[in-house]
Amino acid sequence: MKGDLEKVVTMYDLDAAINGRHSIRKFLPRPVPKDLLMECLALAQHAPSNSNIQPWRMFIAAGTIHDRLKEALMAASRESEPSVPVLPEHYKHFRIDLGAQVYGVGMGIPREDKEGRRAAVLRNWEFFGAPLVGIVCIDKELGPPDMVAVGMYLQTLVLSLTARGVSTCVQVALAGYPEILYKELSIPRQLSIICGMSIGYADPDFPANKLNIGRNPIENNVTILGY
Ligand SMILES: Cc1cc2nc3c(=O)[nH]c(=O)nc-3n(C[C@H](O)[C@H](O)[C@H](O)COP(=O)(O)O)c2cc1C
Repeated sequence: MKGDLEKVVTMYDLDAAINGRHSIRKFLPRPVPKDLLMECLALAQHAPSNSNIQPWRMFIAAGTIHDRLKEALMAASRESEPSVPVLPEHYKHFRIDLGAQVYGVGMGIPREDKEGRRAAVLRNWEFFGAPLVGIVCIDKELGPPDMVAVGMYLQTLVLSLTARGVSTCVQVALAGYPEILYKELSIPRQLSIICGMSIGYADPDFPANKLNIGRNPIENNVTILGY
């Protein structure tokens, strides 16, 4: 009975973490304790994967390595465009809608203010001020089912951090300068870089951190048959 009660409490904690997770785009300089990070990494290892191959490869940078990486990425982002996958035309309205919410409503930068928007986008490569950054990789020889496992791993990690008060922003932008990441973090060439993730404590006063980005109704994404 006691076990059952504990299970119920745990389920509510999970719901709170799912609902409470939002992408954070301004972090406090406060460091994340290493034992807390290790606890979350241990939980994330429970993610399922095809043949249990556990294909996620994470490189986490703190301290001087984080600072050096940030400097290199910021310099690159000022000089050249990142190489990030281009969205197909019929998905582009999602990016425009999101930009209106994050940069318009959240940061008060109108769409016509090209310089202001660019400066806000460039903050991706400063990890939005986060003291930790993770780079998410996978073996180049693996395919879509293994990418699914990396996604499941990442969400498990993100929710474990959220449940402990630590926020994140998953960022494809961080994969935009792969040569810098390979060099600065000594990432083996056998790995593809999928995305990055800023990790830290959210600045509670930054309006864009308080956004609740909407979602489709379930029926847009799910087809239920014979039930
Ligand atoms: C794979 C992936 C890549 C993303 N890339 C970026 C990014 O480069 N920069 C950014 O600010 N947010 C990025 N995001 C965050 C999304 O914009 C965000 O998850 C989405 O708008 C929903 O908002 P929410 O996370 O606050 O619920 C990314 C999220 C994912 C899962």
